[in-house]
Amino acid sequence: MILSIAKKLAEKSEKILELLDLFSGKEILVIGDLTLDEFLTGQVERISREAPVLILRHETTKQIPGGGANAVYNLAKLGAKVKVVGLLGKDSQGEALLKIFDQASIDTSGIIISDSRPTVTKTRIAGHARQSVTQQIVRVDRKSDILPEREIQMQLAQKIQEKLKEVEAVVCSDYGDGIFTQPVINAALSHHRVIVDTQKELPRYAKAALFTPNLPEAEKAVGYAITDASSLQKAGEDLLNLTKAEKILITRGEEGMSLFEKMSDPSQNWIKTQHIPAFNHTDVFDVTGAGDTVVAALTLGLCAGASFWEAAVLGNLAASIVVRRFGTATTTIEEIQEALQNLLEASS
Ligand SMILES: Nc1ncnc2c1ncn2[C@@H]1O[C@H](COP(=O)(O)OP(=O)(O)OP(=O)(O)O)[C@@H](O)[C@H]1O
Ligand SMILES: [Mg+2]
Repeated sequence: MILSIAKKLAEKSEKILELLDLFSGKEILVIGDLTLDEFLTGQVERISREAPVLILRHETTKQIPGGGANAVYNLAKLGAKVKVVGLLGKDSQGEALLKIFDQASIDTSGIIISDSRPTVTKTRIAGHARQSVTQQIVRVDRKSDILPEREIQMQLAQKIQEKLKEVEAVVCSDYGDGIFTQPVINAALSHHRVIVDTQKELPRYAKAALFTPNLPEAEKAVGYAITDASSLQKAGEDLLNLTKAEKILITRGEEGMSLFEKMSDPSQNWIKTQHIPAFNHTDVFDVTGAGDTVVAALTLGLCAGASFWEAAVLGNLAASIVVRRFGTATTTIEEIQEALQNLLEASS
């Protein structure tokens, strides 16, 4: 690890551990495009006589939260008391997601069930020959391309208004599946601490406290490629202007993350920039959903009183754990404590 970051981590380690102790019980509202990730696996039996396709003998079905539901689940596993506002279909996939949430003690009273659209579901079908590795054959997606009806948009906004008062932060996890219409965004923005993770159209959330685009999302928002230190710096500044936010965090995959923060002192306004490298480069197995994990730990960090850098470090530590796991994954306070200790030992 770069020496300067190792030194700063060592200095701040006690504070970071204290912050982790405060995660438990924090009340957070997540408004999200909820997805169910499904994984069906089977052993290849033979070629069908109906068509030239493989016949699999079903072995397992795994259902896990995806998209905005992954942000919800990550927060819950870190000890937060999570309330969700979202939209599910009247189908077995929606029921499966509700059951997973219930088992994690997540408040699902803000979820609206619609009979005019399916629960957003991504079903991967994977097969393997006897004693060989499993590989994906096809993915089937279920989703609606139509925005929810006006009445549902207003109901979602109403649910948000009801729950806002009880929470310390609001996370908008926008995967572009349609729940973030203007009434929903306006309702969310009446909270003072809104963290936005959106794939596109960041200015729609203007004046939220913090945005967490990944690199491609940041590039799309500013309209140019981020290829070196100076284009990265310019993108951070442009994003601050574009969103009118106080803070921008660009997650940069294996490069870690970059923080841009508007500062003001009596004499001038300036932008503070900090870079944090990825904490783990070994056994990186599946980075899907790592951004949701960053948002979860970062949000709880901010609610616990962390500085922007400390909260981002918490997010980066949490991400360093889930990138070692299959599919969208979660981590716990204990695992983050352990990851920090390991990091400190490795650099001492
Ligand atoms: N290849 C990698 N090696 C090490 N760490 C990684 C890697 N990819 C991601 N990370 C960690 O995960 C964090 C978030 O990753 P990334 O920028 O890919 O988010 P994302 O694209 O929003 O993810 P998603 O949308 O799938 O949730 C990074 O800041 C870094 O800490
Ligand atoms: Mg993301």
